[in-house]
Amino acid sequence: MSTARRPLISGNWKMNLTHLEAIHVIQKVSYSIDPGRYSHVDVSVHPPFTALRSVQTVLEADDISIALGAQNAHWEPSGAYTGEISPLMLAKLNVRYVIVGHSERRQLFGETDDMVARKVAAVFKAGMTPIMCVGETLEEREAGGTEPRVLGQLQAGLAGLNPEQVGSMVVAYEPIWAIGTGRTATPDDAQAVCATIRAAVSSDHGSQAGGSIRVQYGGSVKRSNIGGLMAQPDIDGALVGGASLDPVEFAEIVAFSGS
Ligand code: PGA
Repeated sequence: MSTARRPLISGNWKMNLTHLEAIHVIQKVSYSIDPGRYSHVDVSVHPPFTALRSVQTVLEADDISIALGAQNAHWEPSGAYTGEISPLMLAKLNVRYVIVGHSERRQLFGETDDMVARKVAAVFKAGMTPIMCVGETLEEREAGGTEPRVLGQLQAGLAGLNPEQVGSMVVAYEPIWAIGTGRTATPDDAQAVCATIRAAVSSDHGSQAGGSIRVQYGGSVKRSNIGGLMAQPDIDGALVGGASLDPVEFAEIVAFSGS
């Protein structure tokens, strides 16, 4: 982690927790986080859509410095798109970060690079920050295809953005084989891909964008491996799935990343 970039630890709750359970979890997260140890870290939580309003109310009523995040958004501001949620609706709930192009959306719901690019642009247009996910499958990794896959997703997702936008956004490198499997990339492997991402951003969008874009690692991040990951110079935080549902463990991940 570079000292110039504030780490961002994001809890992706996926399709878990009713709005009542979400209230309980966010309260427990805020009690568990030691404010003295996390003043150098940005934290976001990404509840399902049905819990956003409840979590927003708790965060604002108790003045908790955790940013509200969403897990997805459509690219249009409104219209005949049954079942979709627009960036405008999220911005109205004071959502700050929106995960875009998570591998589960790409693999299970057919999201293409083009859709991801449109979503990234729409999230910016609504005044929020995208967390754009990229990552390779196990087959791609074993065939030596990590770099072309990740850089292809990166270039497609960032096409059309200006350098200021690129520099202000977040890219989450999430090797698909490490998500929910208990298998984490080694810190060295994760660092190598995150450095490649940063170098590609610098060469395509300028060194200022490359120096300020935040690159998270995601995939089975836990209290036991966060330290080694955060010690890497090009890893600026983590996108945490399963472990973010445990408020005590999530608080420990946040504390460790800031120490
Ligand atoms: P995991 O999920 O931490 O449960 O592996 C990470 C993610 O999918 O964002």
